[in-house]
Amino acid sequence: MTGAVAGPRAKSEALLELRSVRVGFRERRHEHEIVRGVNLLVRAGEKLGIVGESGSGKTLTVLSVLRLLPGRLQLLSGRVSFAGQDLTELRERQLRQVRGSQVAMVYQDPMTSLNPLLRVRSQVVETLRAHGAGRDEAHDRCREVLYQVGLPDPERVERSFPHELSGGMQQRVMIAIALSVSPRLLIADEPTTALDVTVQQQILELVEGLQEHTGMAVVWVTHDLGVVARTVDQVAVMYAGRVVELAPTRRLFARPSHPYTAALLGALPSAGAGHRRPLTQIGGTPPDPARLGSGCPFRARCRHAVARCEEEEPTLIGRGEGSFAACWRAPEEWAS
Ligand SMILES: Nc1ncnc2c1ncn2[C@@H]1O[C@H](COP(=O)(O)OP(=O)(O)O)[C@@H](O)[C@H]1O
Ligand code: SF4
Ligand SMILES: [Mg+2]
Repeated sequence: MTGAVAGPRAKSEALLELRSVRVGFRERRHEHEIVRGVNLLVRAGEKLGIVGESGSGKTLTVLSVLRLLPGRLQLLSGRVSFAGQDLTELRERQLRQVRGSQVAMVYQDPMTSLNPLLRVRSQVVETLRAHGAGRDEAHDRCREVLYQVGLPDPERVERSFPHELSGGMQQRVMIAIALSVSPRLLIADEPTTALDVTVQQQILELVEGLQEHTGMAVVWVTHDLGVVARTVDQVAVMYAGRVVELAPTRRLFARPSHPYTAALLGALPSAGAGHRRPLTQIGGTPPDPARLGSGCPFRARCRHAVARCEEEEPTLIGRGEGSFAACWRAPEEWAS
């Protein structure tokens, strides 16, 4: 099993790097792009949030990391490296060793990942055994991780079948399984969407607490910007298959550099004062990334569009303080 304690030096090392990642499918020599050239960097111990409306390509981006793309979808081009290793060049058998032991994924629906016919203990122990733990060690560690994820009665949970547990408890079991092998990176794809807000917050805080102990890096995928506000170091905002803004979290919330981010922030319920104002919806719908015309994909919904936005698609430009945005207009021109 791999140890996951990252020292202070390890913190600055690039752990996961996506370079010009394009995902889609080929049809009669034509490439239909859905994820259209994504660059991302996650350092050891760092937390990255990937945020965007449904259909923006978040899931396909993270699935491309471990080559888990469904059906005819494939990595059309680009590189994915993990701890200095080019994952795109690994054979399936080598990749399987990375999956689960070094990079763990937690999906949206616990019931698609948990085996309904096996008691929780068997599922955790099986995972650990597959990664080289001895029987006794696996049993001890099982109890330990169930306790770590805050399950109130680990002995009872161990003996339960998944359907005997609540949604929140199933989610915790999934996280326990993912964390049991001390991965260096945890990728969580909207793992809390099905849960109520309080449970969401608890799960996030839980992962954050565990992360501080182990030095594990985290990629947290969500359609809700509010969910990652307090928990990640950096946020990548995706729109129509691209990252349109990438910035340190605090900076992104204080001064968004892309009109889409600003609109997402405007749609967040305001905090404090004990009451929530109603959500301002962002007008219009996101375009289908596979059917984009020329120009900025956000232009139909953008209040600040100018002529150039119709013609050319902007790429990421540095906006200072570690912030990057793909917009032809500087925030000084449109932010009030
Ligand atoms: N298996 C698939 N085959 C073809 N297109 C797909 C498939 N899965 C997703 N897509 C398309 O890719 C786009 C991005 O999907 P996805 O990455 O799941 O978005 P997100 O996770 O941001 O909601 C969507 O528009 C969706 O229609
Ligand atoms: S490039 Fe133009 S249309 Fe696109 S977000 Fe910027 S101002 Fe709006
Ligand atoms: Mg998704």
